[in-house]
Amino acid sequence: MRKNILNILKKKNKTKIVCLTAYSKSVAKILDKICDIVLVGDSMAHVLYGQTNTHSVSLKNIIQHTISVKKGIKKSLLVVDMPKNSYNSLKKAKFNAKKILNLTKCDAVKIENNNGNFKILEGLVKAKIPVMGHIGYTPQFKKKFKLEGDSTSKKEKLLQEAQRIEKAGAFSIVLECVSPAAAKLITQKLSIPTIGIASSKFCDGQILVTDDMLGLSGFYPKFVKKYVNLTRIIEKAVKKYSRDVKLAKFPSNKHFLNGR
Ligand code: KIV
Repeated sequence: MRKNILNILKKKNKTKIVCLTAYSKSVAKILDKICDIVLVGDSMAHVLYGQTNTHSVSLKNIIQHTISVKKGIKKSLLVVDMPKNSYNSLKKAKFNAKKILNLTKCDAVKIENNNGNFKILEGLVKAKIPVMGHIGYTPQFKKKFKLEGDSTSKKEKLLQEAQRIEKAGAFSIVLECVSPAAAKLITQKLSIPTIGIASSKFCDGQILVTDDMLGLSGFYPKFVKKYVNLTRIIEKAVKKYSRDVKLAKFPSNKHFLNGR
């Protein structure tokens, strides 16, 4: 059965929420068997398009990849990142979020908070668009990748930001690069689930960029646990293929279509 937002909300304080990113049907199909939430993240800028930041991802990119991902989804909740500049006014945010939902049939959108997006988030929710928030390090707005909420006053400020996002109607919130103490406090104080990346075990759930945890992206900061080294596995397979081609071992007699 397909998961919905209520299923995700009910997991708070019961079981951890498992999330990963996908940009294509083939990967989504694998994740769908295991994950609660699949995110079509604008991290595709790094992973697929070789960009140094997420800013160039367009609405068209996000929609195209989500249409592909949706084909692999039967059970997980499908959340989609709204690209930078696609939600910088409420009118634009509503128009673009509806476009994403209508064309992709995803379940929700995610917007990064820039300490001023509360009204936009609230407006989206009022328009019946489910929204996931995102605070801490927000790559669309902050240049520097650094730990957030690492002093008492910064921790309190981050908590207030998270509380305003909850009040605005978000159904969950990503905490990126948030100090363990701040992540713990926010997770305790909020009634919506927190999803952490580089933000300690204290969050209600965790997300990673799939290509990072599979050892395929070449981006392995300290917070990434590499569960497999796919780069090495693919390299080995490609070397074998290359050898077979050069030695005329591939294709063999069995690698022909029947009857041809
Ligand atoms: O774009 C993305 O993949 C994200 C996650 C890392 C949270 O926003």
